[in-house]
Amino acid sequence: MLETREHWSARSGFIIAAVGSAVGLGNIWRFPYVAYENGGGAFLIPYLIALLTAGLPLLFLDYAVGHRSSGAPPKAYKKLWKPAETLGWWQVCVCLIIGLYYAGVLTWAGSYIYFSIGQVWGSDPESFFFKTYLQTTESKTFDLTFISHLFWPLVGVWVGVLAILYGGVKKGVELSNKIFMPLLIVLFTILVIQAVRLPGAADGLNAFFTPNWSKMMDYKVWLAAYGHIFFSLSVGFGIMVTYSSYLKPKTNLTGSGLIVGFANSSFELLAGIGVFAALGFMAHAAGKPVEEVVSGGIGLAFIAFPKLISSLGAGADFFGILFFTSLFVAGITSMVSILEVPIAALQDKLKWGRIKAVSVVGGGTGAVSIFLFSTNNAIKLVDIIDHFINNLGIVSGALISIIMVSWFKRVLMSELETHINRISTIQLGKTWEFTLTIVTPVVLLSTLLLALNSLIQKGYGDYSSNLLLCFGWGSIIFCALGALLMSKIHDR
Ligand code: ALA
Repeated sequence: MLETREHWSARSGFIIAAVGSAVGLGNIWRFPYVAYENGGGAFLIPYLIALLTAGLPLLFLDYAVGHRSSGAPPKAYKKLWKPAETLGWWQVCVCLIIGLYYAGVLTWAGSYIYFSIGQVWGSDPESFFFKTYLQTTESKTFDLTFISHLFWPLVGVWVGVLAILYGGVKKGVELSNKIFMPLLIVLFTILVIQAVRLPGAADGLNAFFTPNWSKMMDYKVWLAAYGHIFFSLSVGFGIMVTYSSYLKPKTNLTGSGLIVGFANSSFELLAGIGVFAALGFMAHAAGKPVEEVVSGGIGLAFIAFPKLISSLGAGADFFGILFFTSLFVAGITSMVSILEVPIAALQDKLKWGRIKAVSVVGGGTGAVSIFLFSTNNAIKLVDIIDHFINNLGIVSGALISIIMVSWFKRVLMSELETHINRISTIQLGKTWEFTLTIVTPVVLLSTLLLALNSLIQKGYGDYSSNLLLCFGWGSIIFCALGALLMSKIHDR
């Protein structure tokens, strides 16, 4: 059969899309907080080491696997070693689960663009977010009450993302990234410039950059750095395997990887500067030390930022729209990349056309996502599923792919290395082999065992064990069953 696989129009299209995937919700709300919690300025050292010894080596491995086989993870891993198709489907299922809640958080960001006009959240953004907007219940019993003002925007997000995906690799994914990424850079640069000019910004930056060297002796800081880099670079869960499979045969893979890694880290640092300058201003306005106004994750974006925006006076609407549009735009391009993985996998396996694959993946995942995340318990589900899928789903998928090539099938490692070196400017060698054989597996294995131990011993948050079983462990069981089942089906 004639090869009909789509390609990026040029290497630059791939690089923009790969940066669009890497730069996401994680960069804006996750990095600044993780860095601050783990030693501030001193965290940049473990972060850089994690990038060089795990992030980039795994990025190159993902590129080599996807590019060499021109396939999404199941086909790509199967070509390397037949039983490894299951690993590919595991990564596909991880993407399906991430897609469920990523759309939910994107919807909140989109709605907050609108809420920024006139600061709809009023004088108590925390109560607005939890009680008025999400209508979260305090009760331990779990119910799913439908909330129409969450439903329609969520439907809108799904329709928008699927419209991009229906467009295909070149006219959908690549084109949307070419529009959204420059927009994001402009918006975010204006935002950061505005933020560093606020009174008190210097205090925030001092808090962010002042190194706490004693933290460097704490192994948890190192695990945080390694844990962050995988999600941030979108490596280890199939995205980069899929994106590199659309590259033309002769492409400089290592050069592209270095650009993507550098762009992602620069954006992360810029986000840290912007967020901490803004928090410095907030502390200054409240007459409190910066430590007291810092919060992480969802709270940072939807509670701390609205508070800050409200205190800006005349520029409040503008600043709010800038921040939430940046968050939304960064998230859309990552969401597209997350769904591209299952779509491409089904196209490979069942020889489906693009329209059919997007309809089935989008219809199925979208329906479940809309059902779960337009309810009063949306935030609890985001928190639980995100924790399990990041700490167990992504980490184990990445670990198995590395161990497979570096411990059990070393011949594959040298084949992949030869493949990359044949077409790339910067050559891989002993350092790449060493990091993937020793450093990355050891760190990932420790991270995984610690996370498993803690989840089994202590559970997570103060959620009931039924809830954790259903949505947390349930997500992991879904991935395992999905992987086993799909790899049993014969290819068309
Ligand atoms: N890499 C994407 C993010 O940071 C998934 O959100």
